[in-house]
Amino acid sequence: MLRVAVIHGPNLDLLGARDPEHYGSLTLDEVNRLITAAAEELKIEVRISQHNHEGAVVEAIHEAARWAHAIVINPAAFTHYSVAVRDALEASGLPAVEVHLSNIHAREAFRRVSITAPVCRGQISGLGPIGYVLALHAVKAILENQA
Ligand code: DQA
Repeated sequence: MLRVAVIHGPNLDLLGARDPEHYGSLTLDEVNRLITAAAEELKIEVRISQHNHEGAVVEAIHEAARWAHAIVINPAAFTHYSVAVRDALEASGLPAVEVHLSNIHAREAFRRVSITAPVCRGQISGLGPIGYVLALHAVKAILENQA
């Protein structure tokens, strides 16, 4: 069975209440239910976690490296400045797909830069929670050598 770590970064615990125009109205629990349902359908075992601290995201990536075949990550604000998260992703050696609920390329200049995307296989941005589902499809295809 394919094993995928889904990692949510800071402030994503506030989904539903936080800036719904950019992030939608679903709560993190609701988003996670979508992810879990898609994973079941795709026969992927997922472990989902959310962290507000940079070091906790780094440790979640380290743990993924010991357990998972791939990573789906929304590094949230760390996308734009965390060399530590970037380096952890690179060191994991795992294929990773970066997800953003909002279209970071259509927002403020500082959000248009992702320092984590270059160490990911790809990025899905602006499609809302379905982006996580698409990312699961993508990692499955990558792991099955179909992408
Ligand atoms: C985000 C976009 C980031 O710029 C922001 O800091 C977030 C969420 C997104 O999912 O659209 O917290 O990663």
